[in-house]
Amino acid sequence: MAKSKTSSSKKWWKEQIIYQIYPRSFFDSDGDGIGDLKGIIEKLDYIKSLGVTAVWVNPFYASPNDDNGYDISDYRKIMDEFGNMDDFNEMIKGFHDRDIKFVMDLVVNHTSDEHEWFKQSRSSRYNLYRDYYHWWPAENGKPNYRFSYFDEKGDAWKYDAHTDAYYLHYFSAKQPDLNWENPEVRREIYDIMHFWVKKGVDGFRLDAFQFISKDTSFPPFPKGYQNNVVDVIKHHGMGPTLHDHIREMNKEVLSKYEVFAVSEGVGSSFEDAHSLVDEDRNELQMVYHFEGVEVGNGLDDPHTLADFKQVHSKWEASFKDNGWISIFLANHDVPRMVSRFGNDSDEFRVASSKMLNTFLLTMRGTPYCYFGDELGMKNIYFQHISEYQDIAAKNGYKKALSEGRDMKKFMQNLSFYSRDNSRTPMQWDNSEHAGFSSDLPWIAVNQDYKEVNVAAQETCPDSVLNHFRQLTSLRTNNPVLIYGTYQQVDKDNPEVYAYSRTLDSQVWLVLLSFVETDSIFQLPDNMQSFEIQGNNYSELRINDGRAKLKAYQAVVLSQKG
Ligand code: NOJ
Repeated sequence: MAKSKTSSSKKWWKEQIIYQIYPRSFFDSDGDGIGDLKGIIEKLDYIKSLGVTAVWVNPFYASPNDDNGYDISDYRKIMDEFGNMDDFNEMIKGFHDRDIKFVMDLVVNHTSDEHEWFKQSRSSRYNLYRDYYHWWPAENGKPNYRFSYFDEKGDAWKYDAHTDAYYLHYFSAKQPDLNWENPEVRREIYDIMHFWVKKGVDGFRLDAFQFISKDTSFPPFPKGYQNNVVDVIKHHGMGPTLHDHIREMNKEVLSKYEVFAVSEGVGSSFEDAHSLVDEDRNELQMVYHFEGVEVGNGLDDPHTLADFKQVHSKWEASFKDNGWISIFLANHDVPRMVSRFGNDSDEFRVASSKMLNTFLLTMRGTPYCYFGDELGMKNIYFQHISEYQDIAAKNGYKKALSEGRDMKKFMQNLSFYSRDNSRTPMQWDNSEHAGFSSDLPWIAVNQDYKEVNVAAQETCPDSVLNHFRQLTSLRTNNPVLIYGTYQQVDKDNPEVYAYSRTLDSQVWLVLLSFVETDSIFQLPDNMQSFEIQGNNYSELRINDGRAKLKAYQAVVLSQKG
């Protein structure tokens, strides 16, 4: 019997348009310079007006904020700076009253070192919580090297004199890794998930999830191991018991509710990614792979349009029949979308932002739209290390210094790639601090806020914001953009990314110009007669069956019968 094709099966979570909110930077309701839950509540109608159908809010649990909330000290408490549980209850009700689903970050590869479990664990080798974390007794010698993303020396083992042992931290030293091999730890995590689902959460974004399972003998890495993304994921990711744990999580929690879970990180291959989400696996629902935002290799080796097309098309092809992917071009860990994939000059920022939003909202896969990208917010490009707030930037700087790296080059890269670029405050209006806060914000506001802000764009029909709204409405009202098959058209065109979406008798064509100049695109025979469903310019020039696209023009055409 033919294997069931699950990718086209209808599921509510495939139909969502997810808006990602970094709460620290969204809206500050109490004037302390830090965004908060009440701030989100004040902006519920704005969020609804975007036409998005779900939100993912980055962590708001109690946290000492070594990594802005990704270091949790209490999973059942709200971070003081963000408010309290009453605020959470009001916020989630506000979303649900507006028919917006709520996706929560679940950060359970690690906790904060200020979590009670870790305090107990580090207090004695005989403490009941000792095995909640990974400890290596010093008398066994130094443990084999493990890479840490945020450590000043890049070393994931930290020596703790109190019990003469090392503990493991794949991220900062204040983010010790939980020991998922301990069934007690897993039980605690499932309890936490039940707690939040009962409060109304509709989905979980599983932070750093490919790393939860470890070979606890911590063998040496094979010869030739390098600290690059590929090797780190290959040797730290997709550990031996990962699937057992996920299946258990599915059985104990996910399968009991109408919730979905998306895995941040997907291992090293399509096979790995599929093993997490194909329907017959009974594990998770959606993958969030990074290849789309890792295309090109730094400033020295920028990507081409061919690379961009190739990455998105190969993921699409692999997930055509089974499993489901996310589509995103930015989040809180990477540069702003328009700076990375468009053109953030004064001349082209607007057109290229609209073009990229057209891509997000017409591709197959669930779109994740990062807050501020609906305005075309761009990188802030900090120049001096003292301006950075992010632990990854600060510790990365110390590490580069101690390694004697070329610091000029390091700073150039940081200025472009730093996570702080996408964490600057939301630009609400042209008043001081961009209307984000009445006090000095925790991180600098991008100085283009006088022109680039919600208030200015609300009143301008051609704004990036209003174009975004047209596109969300188009997607929501046309299942062809959700379930339609995808096919590249004129795939070798170096200037235009074109693809069709087809569902039953409906055929749509999306044309995206990625260049600063005009470009010509020969319309295929079956699209000579069409209706324009979306356009980021006021006209579309057609001559002899050929479209003459303007710089960064993005059009969505439907075939006329
Ligand atoms: C991935 C998150 O997106 C990132 O912001 C965080 O620093 C790490 N995981 C550690 O939790």
